[in-house]
Formats: sequence, C-alpha cells, structure tokens
Amino acid sequence: MDYFNYQQNNQLWAENVPLAQLAEQYGTPLYVYSRATLERHWKAFDEAVATHPHLICYAVKANSNLGVLNVLARLGSGFDIVSQGELERVIAAGGDPAKVVFSGVGKTAAEMKRALELGIKCFNVESEPELERLNAVAEELGVTAPISLRINPDVDAKTHPYISTGLRDNKFGIVFDRAVEVYRLAHSLPHLQVVGMDCHIGSQLTDITPFIDATDRLLALVDELKAEGIHIQHLDLGGGLGVTYNDEQPPQPADYASALLARLENYPDLELIFEPGRAIAANAGVLLTKVEFLKHTEHKNFAIVDAAMNDLIRPTLYSAWQDIVPVSPRQGEAHVYDLVGPICETGDFIGKDRSLCLAQGDLLAVRSAGAYGFVMASNYNTRARAAEIMVDGEQAHVVRERETLTQLWQLEQIIQ
Ligand code: LLP
Repeated sequence: MDYFNYQQNNQLWAENVPLAQLAEQYGTPLYVYSRATLERHWKAFDEAVATHPHLICYAVKANSNLGVLNVLARLGSGFDIVSQGELERVIAAGGDPAKVVFSGVGKTAAEMKRALELGIKCFNVESEPELERLNAVAEELGVTAPISLRINPDVDAKTHPYISTGLRDNKFGIVFDRAVEVYRLAHSLPHLQVVGMDCHIGSQLTDITPFIDATDRLLALVDELKAEGIHIQHLDLGGGLGVTYNDEQPPQPADYASALLARLENYPDLELIFEPGRAIAANAGVLLTKVEFLKHTEHKNFAIVDAAMNDLIRPTLYSAWQDIVPVSPRQGEAHVYDLVGPICETGDFIGKDRSLCLAQGDLLAVRSAGAYGFVMASNYNTRARAAEIMVDGEQAHVVRERETLTQLWQLEQIIQ
C-alpha cells in the first residue's frame, strides 16, 4: 500500500499534498517520494521478522537520495552498499556504519580500506581473489575483516534475465559446489573472520519458492560448516522481493518472512539479514511529467511528454511496464497512446499502448518510480536531471534540486 491517492475533486495527491501543486512549484519532470510509504514498507519487513534476530539492510542502489537514506536511518535501518560512493552517502545521511553490509563483485582496495576504517558489519565476498585482497588490506590496517561468502545457490529466480543473479552462469557469488572449500580458505586467512553467509538470487521475484529453495541449500551448508568448526552467525538472503507494477501479486513481506522463519526454527541464534531495495522504495515514488504535444498519425497516437529515457530508463532497458495515470483525470474519449520522450531514439518511451484521455499540458504520474528511477538517470541529450521531492504529511521538501545546465559541463574544458 502507498500514500499516492486520488483525493479532493479527484486529484492525485502524495500524502496530504496535491501533486499538481508540486509540479506547479518545482516544474517537471519531477520525482516525488512519500516518507510515510517508505516507512510503512521498511516496517513491514522489520515487523515480519520481529520474533527472530534480524537486520533490515536497505539496498542503497534502489534509491540513494540522502533524504531517503536519512528517513530509513532514523528507523534504525542497516544498509546494503555496493561502492564507496554508496557508503559515503550512508554516512552523510546519518546511517550507522556498524549496520552496513558491502556487496558487489569488484571491490577495490581503496573501498575495502575505507569500509574497514569505518567498521562496517560485513563484507559479502564474491570470489577467492577478493578474499586474498581483503585479507591483505586488513593486515595493512592491523584489523580483522568480518566476512560472509556470497553463495550462488543455482536456483532459477524466474525473473528478467538482466536481473536474475542466482544461476550458475551469472557472474555473481561462489559456485555452490565449491562453497565449503572457499570457506576453508577464508577461515585460514589470519585477517579475516567468517561471520556470515549470503546470497541474492535476483530481483522482482513474485514467488516465494526460489527464496525457500535457496534458504534450504544455504542452511545445509551452514550445518556442514559447523561440523568443520566454522560458525555462521548470520544468514543474509539478499533482496529481490517483487512489487506490483501492473497485476503482479508478489508475496507480502509477512508471508515471505513466515515461510522463512519456519525454516529457521532450529536456528534461533542465526541472525537473518534482508537487503530489500525495490520492495521499500518502488511504490514510494512517482515521476511527474507533462504532456508537451499530442501527435496523431494514421497508425499511432503519440503523447510527447517531458520525461524521457534519461529520467527513467526501465521501460527502455527492460521493457518494464509502469502504470501511468493522470494527475487530474478528465472526462472525454480515451485514445490509445504511446508515451514518448523528447530524446532522439526510437527506444525513448515511458509507456506504450496506454488508453488515456489527454490534452496538451496535462500532468501524468508514472507510478512505482521510487526504485531504480532517479538513480539510473543520465544526462543523455544534455538534459538536466530532475528534482526530487520528499513529501511528509502536509510538507514537501526538496531533497535534490533540479540540475542547472551549466552544471552539466562544469567539469569539462575546451583545449587551449
Ligand atoms: N542485494 C544485492 C546484492 C543486489 O544486487 C540487489 C539488486 C539488491 C540487494 C536489491 O534487490 P531488490 O530488493 O531491489 O530487488 N535496475 C533493475 C534492478 C537491478 C537489481 C540489482 N540488484 C531494475 O530496475 O529492475
């Protein structure tokens, strides 16, 4: 559930603020987030596993705006990061480094050093050379690095191939069959301390079965390692719980958690970590855009809007479908439109074949845009990136200003 609803006079609001008012004040395209929705989604995870030791580590990559991170940090959230940049954002937003897990296949020595200095909770290590590098960096600093191994459980998440990560031929994690051997190596390295086990099998999963299959495989490994004297203190199941973009019916965090907790009955001390990104942020944000022109041809109707693939690339990149709704619905005949941006590429569309009643100047809200929206935006076609607003009850806060054009080339120079 989210807090973007039609209220007085059938106008779309974010919490207690009309979206039309925000578009008027801050211009379009405009990302608008709802604090109450972010909090509700985070708490849904936290409360779902309340009876078991746990930590919710929000996946920063989904939406790394400082305002968003700060709202979650105030709830006591942990964070899943994949770069030093994300780590510094967490710190700048008031997050606790002791609740940070560091994922990713290509951590540099400098990134490891900074994370060790800040004292993060765990490095999710994805290969043997990464173990060796981390051991060396920890030795230089005279510290011990807490690690978990990201195991690739070889289960099919049945999601889009670009966001499916738990299969044998993906670049992620350590092949299941070699897990014990690599744990032995980690255990033998003097500047590493094995603390956990990790997996992340994919994103936008709408079925619990692959999560349960992965958990079962990992728990068997936990037992095997215990017999070898390697004690796993936490199990990190990654992110991946899907959301409703259209008519998907993903499990609620409570259903997901109760299925998992049933598996963990014999592991009362095994801390559970989740790394949800999309499930927390996606439906906590919309992208507001204005209809610039309507163009009717013999074959197609186009609505040319002021948001483009540089603002929201998911439709172009993954053929992702996101709901597009009028901010102020009008009476009249609907037409079937392709909603396209101003960028010079045929792939520049926000939605296709949408039945809408539109006029030039109308405002539209692209829903479910809070995750993998602004964070994947670019300046292609020298377009300034949109502003971001956080609504909190009756208040609207600018959490990122719209870029100015001169900012776009301020790091560039012409040769002498
Ligand atoms: N943990 C790890 C190690 C991950 O790689 C990811 C996402 C997450 C957690 C968070 O997954 P989530 O709960 O958000 O599904 N840009 C794509 C999604 C890429 C996801 C990459 N990894 C999209 O727009 O659909």
